Amino acid sequence: MSKQFDIVVIGAGPGGYIAAIRAAQLGFNVACIDEWKNSEGGPAPGGTCTNVGCIPSKALLQSSENFDHAGHAFAEHGIKLANLEIDVARMLARKDGVVKQNNEGILYLFKKNKVAFFHGRGSFAKAVDGGYEIAVKGKADEVLQARHVIVATGSSARALPGAAFDEERILSNDGALRIGAVPKRLGVVGSGVIGLEMGSVWRRLGADVTVLEALPNFLGAVDDGVAKEALKLFTKQGLKIQLGVRIDAVKSGKKAVTVSYVDAKGASQTLEVDRLIVSIGRVPHTEGLNAEGVGLALDERGAIVVDADCKTNLANVWAVGDVVRGPMLAHKAEEEGVAVAERIAGQHGHVNFNTIPWVIYTSPEIAWVGQTEQQLKAEGRAYKAGQFPFLANGRARALGDTSGFVKFLADAKTDEILGVHIIGPMASELIAEAVVAMEFKASSEDIARICHAHPSLSESMKEAALAVDKRTLNF
Ligand code: FAD
Ligand code: NAI
Repeated sequence: MSKQFDIVVIGAGPGGYIAAIRAAQLGFNVACIDEWKNSEGGPAPGGTCTNVGCIPSKALLQSSENFDHAGHAFAEHGIKLANLEIDVARMLARKDGVVKQNNEGILYLFKKNKVAFFHGRGSFAKAVDGGYEIAVKGKADEVLQARHVIVATGSSARALPGAAFDEERILSNDGALRIGAVPKRLGVVGSGVIGLEMGSVWRRLGADVTVLEALPNFLGAVDDGVAKEALKLFTKQGLKIQLGVRIDAVKSGKKAVTVSYVDAKGASQTLEVDRLIVSIGRVPHTEGLNAEGVGLALDERGAIVVDADCKTNLANVWAVGDVVRGPMLAHKAEEEGVAVAERIAGQHGHVNFNTIPWVIYTSPEIAWVGQTEQQLKAEGRAYKAGQFPFLANGRARALGDTSGFVKFLADAKTDEILGVHIIGPMASELIAEAVVAMEFKASSEDIARICHAHPSLSESMKEAALAVDKRTLNF
């Protein structure tokens, strides 16, 4: 006998668990299936984000930043420390604790919202009259039936050809988050978001980190001015970043990994490291879903094909998050999950792709929303730019963190904000003001005329907005 629901959600990452909760709030009878197991074999909802992504990486970034500050920044505050040491096992245990709190938080939210949770692998069994049968393979096998199905099965790390992840020497994000001792020599392939965040963690703890990037430009999706500043700062911190390389082969031995590559000048090189993190992007995950069995259409990258409303080619089957087109970000997945639940309820769920913020949690942090200067130039759009350095911000000086700047880009005629780009302290928090401003179609003058607390980093947002009209007050 199958268990009846209005909606079955497959996957309890940020896309799936948020869709399930919103659907339950809207009065639907909802089930959510997730197969992730914790170290004891129990359920660990939250997906990549909670288990091997956003949350554990930010926990390690915080621990390693604390260590870095204690070693390099505390002395100027008059705080003397001797014999500073990092206990990696303790640091990893703390990270695991933070992950567990989040797993338990989601199970609590399911209970609170009366979402039925099933631990196991969900797959399409068959289409039935007015819906679908979904098989759950777990400790106990179950069959669920629902009119609507939301697929939120996420993504997995892409491996280099011929260099499968062993999570010992050749590491995906999973292995990169549980290296048991600081490696002397760490290699990173790909200078994208994961490469820079995880490279920063292990560099701060003492590893000699070399990053090999295929593209000739650093952080191509980021505003050129910010990318240039970031490359300068990261290099100064000690990350050895090589651009324009071609990886030829990766050989993993008992004690080391050897990467053979051709550098930007065309010379053959080898890099020997103790561990190698491969962070060259992620691929949509549909394994085990039996997409082909029910005719669910995938594109050439393996992503589920959806329209602007996250509708698939099958009636009443929806897909959200990393498994579909668009940026692979937790908050994008969440927004799509909410929008789909609301559309099923007959409401007008909406995701504004122009105002999705991006953050890279390096030090300094990088955050942006909207268009970059190079995009505006390529479009031929007339714009004005205003920039303010954190060096001129009182709070940044008091914090001892004055690197970077805020840049506003506004339409030359209407002054509407088109993009905001930040490299500097707490950029991840500051960017929220820019997102709100852009959602409300604010002009740079609007931000320039809003009272910002003093002393605060947010005054740099106001000053950069003032800079658009060439009237900064503190620079
Ligand atoms: P996922 O989180 O991947 O969840 C999918 C879930 O579905 C998983 O639990 C999986 O077990 C389950 N599943 C898959 N198939 C089945 C099946 N057939 N049956 C049952 N269950 C199934 N994004 C940010 O916005 N900010 C960050 O700071 C950030 N940091 C990151 C750091 C790292 C190291 C990585 C790897 C990613 C990071 N991301 C970050 C990206 C973010 O993790 C993803 O965009 C987000 O998790 C996507 O959510 P999702 O719900 O689509 O998929
Ligand atoms: P990425 O797309 O950010 O970066 C991959 C990099 O690898 C690119 O610069 C690419 O040019 C390079 N590359 C590709 N093939 C290569 C090769 N053969 N040799 C050398 N370099 C190569 O992907 P990443 O870092 O794996 O992260 C995946 C996704 O996870 C991100 O795009 C992002 O959506 C998400 N994420 C988000 C975070 C955040 O929001 N702070 C943090 C971490 C991940």
